[in-house]
Amino acid sequence: MLLLKNIAQVATLRGGPVPRCGPAMADIGIVENGAILIRGQHIQWVGRARDLPVLKPGEECQTIGGAGLGLLALPGFVDSHTHPIFAGTRAQEYELRCLGKTYQEIAASGGGIQASVRQVRAASQAQLVQAAERFFYRFLEHGTTTIEAKSGYGLSLQDELKILEAIAELKHRSRLETVPTFLGAHAIPEERKNSREEYVRQIIEEMIPRISKDGLASYCDVFCDDGYFTVEEGREILTAAKRAGLGLRVHAEELGHSGGARLAAELGARSADHLEWIDDQDIEALKRAGTVATLLPGTAFNLGLRHYPPARKLIAAGVPVALGTDFNPGSCFTLNMQLILSIACSQMGMTPAEAITAATINGAYSLGLSDRLGSIEEGKQADIVLMDVGDYRELPYFFGVNHCVVTIKRGIPAINKLEEA
Ligand code: NIG
Ligand code: FE
Repeated sequence: MLLLKNIAQVATLRGGPVPRCGPAMADIGIVENGAILIRGQHIQWVGRARDLPVLKPGEECQTIGGAGLGLLALPGFVDSHTHPIFAGTRAQEYELRCLGKTYQEIAASGGGIQASVRQVRAASQAQLVQAAERFFYRFLEHGTTTIEAKSGYGLSLQDELKILEAIAELKHRSRLETVPTFLGAHAIPEERKNSREEYVRQIIEEMIPRISKDGLASYCDVFCDDGYFTVEEGREILTAAKRAGLGLRVHAEELGHSGGARLAAELGARSADHLEWIDDQDIEALKRAGTVATLLPGTAFNLGLRHYPPARKLIAAGVPVALGTDFNPGSCFTLNMQLILSIACSQMGMTPAEAITAATINGAYSLGLSDRLGSIEEGKQADIVLMDVGDYRELPYFFGVNHCVVTIKRGIPAINKLEEA
């Protein structure tokens, strides 16, 4: 047994496995002066400390949480959009952007996704695993207990398999839980520039069947945007993926108004992501389809853009909103969900409570895992983090620092800085 006690606030996010929409996004089920009892991998009890059930005599119980620390407990972050398998970085592109070049200009001159593809193709699977393992630890250190992890820097059957197999291997090496997504349609590989139809055919006829046969991905994603894949190509690829039993996600309306969001709604995708340039009709379509809007405001922030997705309109329309980092070496090199909450609040006008909902239960829902993850409720998996703040609003308000002191994954501390103190 593990007892978390002296918790100033527990953000339980109680309310079952359903996505939180509209005003419900602001209700994070705060319990003041709380405690949480964990048995094995699961949450046995959560409530006010004074109501804590008496333990049976002789029952072994480890305790975390000292008096007067003023801790906040919340479900581990579910980061529902990351690209964590790559080799090297692209710091030189960052410098070029600081000097005024745009993401698209850098991509057009040989940088961007293609630069990471060259690096990944030159790397071994062991090198990819080694690099990602360090990042995975840092996700845990910042309070993230589950990530969606995309491929997409291989762009050939062999290299996409190498990435997805690296993700599978990391399941045995890291406490971080991953949900793998096949993103072979991230860009047209350089060597296929003049034969893009052939690449689309290869994705549909070779890659999707092989990846689903090997059980290497739960979802399929397409970068449906200006200069990448068209709506028609996206429809073909995603339809094939759906037939192969994969769930669907779409990178939509990031660089322009591409039609990706409406495609996501049409095909019943679980999530449409980015959505900087979404319009009112797109929002209506997502609402009708029940597709989650996964917003990644770290990307606009990092690229120095002033234009953010319309979070308030999406919430007002009743679309479930999730937040992710978009962790990748190009457009958004952060894995810190706390920082994403700060950007979501200050740049998109989300409230701290809405942002916490978007980063936990709604992220879990977007991955089809909200029956097990995303809230602190009896019977759920004990994925819980303790933050060194006494009020949930301080999490985004006191920004740019890591508040996470304890990360519990499946009932066992993966990070415990209190022990060291
Ligand atoms: O989500 N949009 C597509 N992919 C990434 C960028 C990847 C890169 O630049 O390496 C994104 O922003
Ligand atoms: Fe992305």
